[in-house]
Amino acid sequence: MDTILQPESINAKEAATQYPVHEFIRQRWSARSFADRPIEHDTLMTLLEAASWASSSMNEQPWVYLYAHKGEPVFQQMYDCLLPGNRWADGAPVLLLSLARKNFASNGKHNRHALHDVGAANTTLLLQAAAMDIFGHQMGGFDMQKTIETFQIPDDMEAVCFISIGYLDEPEKLEEPFRTRELTPRKRKELAEFAFAGKMI
Ligand SMILES: Cc1cc2nc3c(=O)[nH]c(=O)nc-3n(C[C@H](O)[C@H](O)[C@H](O)COP(=O)(O)O)c2cc1C
Repeated sequence: MDTILQPESINAKEAATQYPVHEFIRQRWSARSFADRPIEHDTLMTLLEAASWASSSMNEQPWVYLYAHKGEPVFQQMYDCLLPGNRWADGAPVLLLSLARKNFASNGKHNRHALHDVGAANTTLLLQAAAMDIFGHQMGGFDMQKTIETFQIPDDMEAVCFISIGYLDEPEKLEEPFRTRELTPRKRKELAEFAFAGKMI
């Protein structure tokens, strides 16, 4: 039987948890090295549909996604909005821009949960991706003004973050410091630092 070779980053990045968590949570991480393999249209729609099943305040679903496949002019426009620390993202087959509608559609009032809910949708998208051996990387490092101008984002919407999506490849195809980051173990605070029984000490 053929052995399927997996990028070495997979083992380096698996979460070492104190308590058992689902494998999709252990295995999701923010990759930078993407294989030269497209994300099919239906696959992308699956990821976006998964995002839409996140819960949201009043079921407002304040998220909006722009998407572009590598090679399309919009992909380059998205890539050009990213800050230098995210310039590895041109290796991804798909870029997304997640946005929030800041006001409730029903009454125009400010929705203070909008950013929270877009974050929840992004995370749901990325967990669906993890279940399909697809990796994603959220990027808040972008030029906001350039993004607003490029995508003609109206005042009642806010660009939340870009996300690169793709299948994983070897860290070696990246330049430093990104190659090293692709193999650096993921770390989290101890539970005792953020979970309290009733009141904070
Ligand atoms: C809103 C948001 C913005 C982020 N912005 C960037 C970014 O601009 N560049 C980057 O390399 N990673 C970015 N990240 C990824 C985080 O650095 C990463 O999630 C964190 O280090 C934990 O690593 P993990 O996702 O592999 O567990 C961002 C993540 C989030 C949620």
